[in-house]
Amino acid sequence: MVPVLTPFFHAPTCTWTWVVEDPGTHAAAIVDPALDYDPKSGRISTLLADAVIAHVHDRRLGVLWILETHAHADHLSAAQYLKQQLGGRVAIGAGIEAVQRHFARVLNLGADFAADGSQFDHRFADGDRFRIGDLDAEVIATPGHTPDSLSYRIGDALFVGDTLFAPDVGSARCDFPGGDAAALWTSIQRILALPDETRICLAHDYPPDGRQPRPVVPLREMRERNPHVVGLDAQGYIALRSARDAGLAAPQLLYPALQVNIRAGHLPEPEANGTIYFKMPVSGAW
Ligand SMILES: [Fe+2]
Repeated sequence: MVPVLTPFFHAPTCTWTWVVEDPGTHAAAIVDPALDYDPKSGRISTLLADAVIAHVHDRRLGVLWILETHAHADHLSAAQYLKQQLGGRVAIGAGIEAVQRHFARVLNLGADFAADGSQFDHRFADGDRFRIGDLDAEVIATPGHTPDSLSYRIGDALFVGDTLFAPDVGSARCDFPGGDAAALWTSIQRILALPDETRICLAHDYPPDGRQPRPVVPLREMRERNPHVVGLDAQGYIALRSARDAGLAAPQLLYPALQVNIRAGHLPEPEANGTIYFKMPVSGAW
């Protein structure tokens, strides 16, 4: 069974949010939904999520799953908003606990924050299988960018999260907590060993030189044209990746994004005055 794929590009964060649909039963999953957040005003809105909801209603889809490839550091997840509006179970990789432990410590979230993944409806491990209507879905652990990173194979579509990007962009950074370039190399090799006809569904695109963002890259093209793959071995990749990562700035939405995404898309609890706040550690504070 071949899934129907509908990508939504979230331009402020260069994120692809996906709706994947079984054409026979109209069962569906949403992958990596982005919430709109303006860091200057702190205002949250649901522009992209509402477009996803309209599409789901239009196609009369039944949403079974809201799948995160990992706890993103560059955008806030719309998972809970979509769950409230459309149903579905919010899932992520079992490695989320390591990410939660790290950021609970960095953000001093205290004993009230459970770093056990329980905010999610389900946590997947490598090799897990599930169904979306008549579509066969499989979980492939692809750590390296983060320890919780997963790829989801649904029919011939592979949602790779932050592992590989478009061939003219390369691969994901590995300098986040728990990131590991050697692990990402191994993960990329697992992806590239899948059948030639696999459609690689990107989680982001950062198009250079004014080209249009690409949602899908054929696996064969990735194998033949991605400079983070072609002609490299593990050592060469690790050297290239580490040199790149040394020059990268922190993502603009790192702290707000993690505070929402390690809570499965829930915002922090409001304070006594009814207002919700994001925290940010000040390094080198006096
Ligand atoms: Fe990421």
